[in-house]
Amino acid sequence: MSIAPPRQPRFVQLHREDRAAVRQELAAGLLAPAARTSAKYLYDPLGSRLFDAITELPEYYPTRTEAALLHRHGPAIARRLPKGATLVDLGAGNCEKAARLFGLLQPARYVAVDISVEYLHTALECLQRQYPVLDMLGVGLDFSSSLELPPEVGEGTRVLFYPGSSIGNFTPEEALPFLRQARAAAQGGGLLIGVDLVKPRAVLEPAYDDALGVTAAFNKNLLLHLNRLLGSDFAVHDWQHVAFYNESASRIEMHLQAARTLSVRWPGAERRFERGERIHTEISCKYQLGDFQSLLAAAGFTQIDAWTDERGWFAMYWAQA
Ligand code: AVI
Repeated sequence: MSIAPPRQPRFVQLHREDRAAVRQELAAGLLAPAARTSAKYLYDPLGSRLFDAITELPEYYPTRTEAALLHRHGPAIARRLPKGATLVDLGAGNCEKAARLFGLLQPARYVAVDISVEYLHTALECLQRQYPVLDMLGVGLDFSSSLELPPEVGEGTRVLFYPGSSIGNFTPEEALPFLRQARAAAQGGGLLIGVDLVKPRAVLEPAYDDALGVTAAFNKNLLLHLNRLLGSDFAVHDWQHVAFYNESASRIEMHLQAARTLSVRWPGAERRFERGERIHTEISCKYQLGDFQSLLAAAGFTQIDAWTDERGWFAMYWAQA
């Protein structure tokens, strides 16, 4: 009698890093009159670990508020969602958040999407041992530029899962085309998305400027990543972490501020920064409950439900495609 080998997750890598294009994009941002970099460069291996540490900080409420909300309203949410769908986890990382939904949603297939399948190997292999019959696929895709999923994801109804208010790292103008793509990719299913809501400045600002300085380290680590990507000579100690709530734009802004007048050089270019001049490194938009609902409707979603925690700090939306 032969025993079938245990099921293994499959992997597809679609994103190919174009080093020259990355250098060009970074140089253009750093040479702009108001210097800026894309928030995605905060996530090198150390940056990803520092972000994991941020989620444990007492000041950083989003992760634990979302987890409590999902725990409390999980059964009600699950009743609105299709059973036996393909669960597509956008920005899966360690796959922990989606795995907590397996019991409730009973997906037929789990698709973990992240920029590189390398980040997904260990997590998916470990998860496959816990859920030996669930079909699992890891997809390496930069879904911030295109959400076109590969044919390996299959034809069935899809539940796209985008937790953690990562949508807040886009402006509303950037979020809208992303949501439109998500609706098209759902194939008649929908999008389950976590969104951080507007709240007092006294709660928001410490979440992005914590007493231990972990968020400051996360922000400054970007400079080390830029040095590797661009060949630049940023010195970390020349820069200060700045984070504040921009109320009129309803967003947290993170910047790096030059502590003295200095020049940064990289092959082929140089940029002088006056003392106090900043590089804009990230935005984190905060929404009113109804405003995000309107954004989902503008993206073409039909039926929209929302659940919030008791304090009204965070929302989970189910938007049917
Ligand atoms: C990943 N993203 C939702 C986080 C946020 O809250 O905007 C990134 C972050 N930046 C600083 N702290 C956390």
